[in-house]
Amino acid sequence: MDYLDLNTGARMPLIGLGTWKSETDKVGAAVACALTDCGYRQIDCAYIYHNEAEIGRAFDQVFSAGLKRQDVFVTSKLWLNSFTAEDVLPACQKTLSDLRLDYLDLYLMHWGVAIAKGQGDEPLYENGRLVTAKIPLRETWTAMEALVKQGLVKAIGVANFTGPMLVDLLTYARLVPAMNQIELHPYNHQQKLVEFCQSENIAVTAYSPLGSPGNTSRHQDNLNLFNDPVINQLAQKYGKDPAQILLRWGIQRRTVVIPKSVHPDRIKSNIQVFDFSLNQEDMDLIAALDKRHRFVDPDEWWHIPYFD
Ligand SMILES: NC(=O)c1ccc[n+]([C@@H]2O[C@H](COP(=O)([O-])OP(=O)(O)OC[C@H]3O[C@@H](n4cnc5c(N)ncnc54)[C@H](OP(=O)(O)O)[C@@H]3O)[C@@H](O)[C@H]2O)c1
Repeated sequence: MDYLDLNTGARMPLIGLGTWKSETDKVGAAVACALTDCGYRQIDCAYIYHNEAEIGRAFDQVFSAGLKRQDVFVTSKLWLNSFTAEDVLPACQKTLSDLRLDYLDLYLMHWGVAIAKGQGDEPLYENGRLVTAKIPLRETWTAMEALVKQGLVKAIGVANFTGPMLVDLLTYARLVPAMNQIELHPYNHQQKLVEFCQSENIAVTAYSPLGSPGNTSRHQDNLNLFNDPVINQLAQKYGKDPAQILLRWGIQRRTVVIPKSVHPDRIKSNIQVFDFSLNQEDMDLIAALDKRHRFVDPDEWWHIPYFD
C-alpha cells in the first residue's frame, strides 16, 4: 500500500473503500471484508450515507479482532444542515458515536453550501430549489478548526470545493484544509483544480473514480467508463480489468481513490493496483478522454448551478 502525506504530517492510504449507496445490510460485511481480507486501510464515510451505525458495528468487530485503530484511516463528512457554529460539534459527535470511534482521521465539509436546519436532509422549495441557509462558510470552517483542537478529528478538509471557493477559504483559514475531495475520473479529470490544490498543499481525493456506474441518473450509453475502448484496450495490454486501469491512473496522479463496492471480489480486485504502472504515453491517452462530464451534479437535485 502506498500513502500520501497530508499537510498535517499524517499519512493517508492511496486507496480507500467508498460507502455511498452501500446498503445498510451490506455495508458492514463490505467494510469488514476490505479491512480484514483485502488489505484496505482507509474507509470513506459520511453522515448523509445513513449507514455509519452499520459501519461502526463492523469497526467494532475488526478492532476487537486485533486490527489497530491507528492503522486505519477513517474519513467522514459534515452534512450541510449542521453548518452553524453550534451544530458542528454535535454533528461530529453523532458520527463518532455511530462509527464507535474516539476520533476521525479526516472530517470534511461535504459541500460548500449551508442548508436550513430541522427540515430534513435536503429541503426543497416547491420549485425544486434547495432551501439554503444564511450561514457563511467561514463560520463552519472555524468550528471545524475547533474540532482539531478538541482532539475529535486529526485533520479537516472540504469536498466539492471549486478554485474560487478555496481561494476565499484560504484568506481566513488558520488551518489549511488537508484535503479537497472532488469528482475525478478520466471523463472529468479537472487537471487545473488538482494542480491548484496540490500547489497549495491541499491533497486531493478522487471520488467516483470508476465513473459511479451505480448512479444511473447521469449515465448515457456512451458515458460508461467500463465500456470505453481506450480503457478496455489498456486493460488487455496490462492484463488488468478496466476498474484497475481507472484506479491506477488515479493513484499515479497522486490522488487518493475511494472506489465503492459491496462485492468481495470487486473490493479485492480494486486494491490490486500496486503491482503494475501505466507508462506516460498511456497516462496521456487516458487524460485525453476528458469530457468534463460529471456523474454527480447537484444542479440535478438542488437546482443550484453549483459548478456552472
Ligand atoms: N464528497 C462527495 O460529495 C462524494 C460524492 C460521491 C462519492 N463520494 C465517495 O466516493 C465513493 C466512490 O464514488 P461512487 O460510489 O460514486 O462511485 P465509484 O466508486 O466510481 O463506483 C461505484 C460503483 O461501481 C461498482 N463497482 C465497483 N467496483 C467495480 C468493479 N471492479 N467492476 C465493476 N463495477 C464495480 C459498484 O457496484 P457494487 O457495489 O455493486 O460492486 C458501484 O455501483 C463513494 O462511495 C463515496 O464514499 C463522495
